[in-house]
Amino acid sequence: MASGTGARDVFRAPKGTRDVLPPESDRWIDIVGRFAERARRFGYGLVITPIFEHYEVFARLGDTTDVVSKEMYDFVDKGDRRLALRPEGTAGTVRAFVEHRPIAPWKVWYIAPNFRYERPQAGRYRQHFQLGAEVIGSDDPDVDVEMIDLQGGFYREIGLTQSRLVVNSMGDAETRERYRHVLLAYWHDHADLLGDDIARAVANPLRILDSKRPDWQTIIAEAPQLRDHLSDAAAATFDRVLAGLRAIGYDPEIDPRLVRGLDYYTSTVFEFRSSALSAGQDTIGGGGRYDRLSEEMGGPPAPAIGFGTGIERILIVAGAEAAVTRARPRLDAFVIDTLDNDAALLLVHELRESGLAVDRSFGSRSLKKQWSAADKSGATYGVMLAPREYEHGVVIVKELSTGEQHEVPRATITTWIQQRGVTPQ
Ligand code: HAM
Repeated sequence: MASGTGARDVFRAPKGTRDVLPPESDRWIDIVGRFAERARRFGYGLVITPIFEHYEVFARLGDTTDVVSKEMYDFVDKGDRRLALRPEGTAGTVRAFVEHRPIAPWKVWYIAPNFRYERPQAGRYRQHFQLGAEVIGSDDPDVDVEMIDLQGGFYREIGLTQSRLVVNSMGDAETRERYRHVLLAYWHDHADLLGDDIARAVANPLRILDSKRPDWQTIIAEAPQLRDHLSDAAAATFDRVLAGLRAIGYDPEIDPRLVRGLDYYTSTVFEFRSSALSAGQDTIGGGGRYDRLSEEMGGPPAPAIGFGTGIERILIVAGAEAAVTRARPRLDAFVIDTLDNDAALLLVHELRESGLAVDRSFGSRSLKKQWSAADKSGATYGVMLAPREYEHGVVIVKELSTGEQHEVPRATITTWIQQRGVTPQ
């Protein structure tokens, strides 16, 4: 919990968690804002569900998944209820759909922290933040296309250029039943290599397919493919999704081994992967259809689809691409006060109320320190209140990136800054 540093212990954030501080948090909020705006344009409303739910809600993600069997933060509360911290966003959203029965199709997006007791490593934390979206109550393949485009266009908007779309179909119930048998027989043929994990293969033959174990990669590569077992109806649906994606400019790559790590998936599954990251660790976000989950939670039949994308992962990809998300400047102006009366209070108040982002220094600091604070603040302009100029009704404005100075009438400073267009987006 704490690491000894002499007389007093210093507390640190728990293993696998991290603090997000300015200026990183500027990019963070910029990413969230852009996602919110894109979701609004696509007709999605924000949904907020509790950070914890009854354990059984998340147990629906599947006994054979790591998320449920190894990584759940579950606990018994003071009222003897078994609860769990949310490991992902879909189960709680479907629980809310079943509970409130909104009009379908229900189109929602979310931003929320998720908790998984994973081995911390690059891009894998015990608390991560996910942006995601779900549409519950439609099986139209055009919804699949819309969902994938909501995600793909978002990456484009924040400046990622090296992400590629990978898709697969898990087929319908008939397809999966047929395929499970074929796959199980295949795993039995390789029981010697699977060892004790053959029990896992029996419980869910698909789970072995998304294993990253190096010694299994050959048998995984040679395993029978679900695509060869798709029913006619499932194949037609998948073709429609692929055609729709191509119609709006995507070039989907089909990966027959993409099965995703949660048990609720049916039909279309997809991931965006970044070529800027190493293979196996390169997923920025993904999702798919889960047409049976509402019924499994005691709700009405409600075919659904969604995706999630981790903000930490996005920032890593952005860093690896050396691109993106130039967050808008945090401040339009920084006020420097040498008068020490109400003038600075009034000016800052007026600028802020007019919609500008403004900060100032406090505590009668020296002029040099104030200008240095202005430079560090990242503001576009420094605005100085100096005695002689102020008496003549002007303030001194410096463009902090170039050093260019202007004398501007105090009475018109707000419009002067606004008209110059301070915050390029
Ligand atoms: P997931 O693939 O488990 O899917 O997670 C989605 C994304 O969340 C990942 O691609 C990654 O960006 C991020 N993520 C997951 N685990 C971690 C972690 N430990 N540390 C950092 N980032 C992480 C889901 O969660 C599904 N609910 C997606 C979905 C929505 N499917 C249908 N609707």
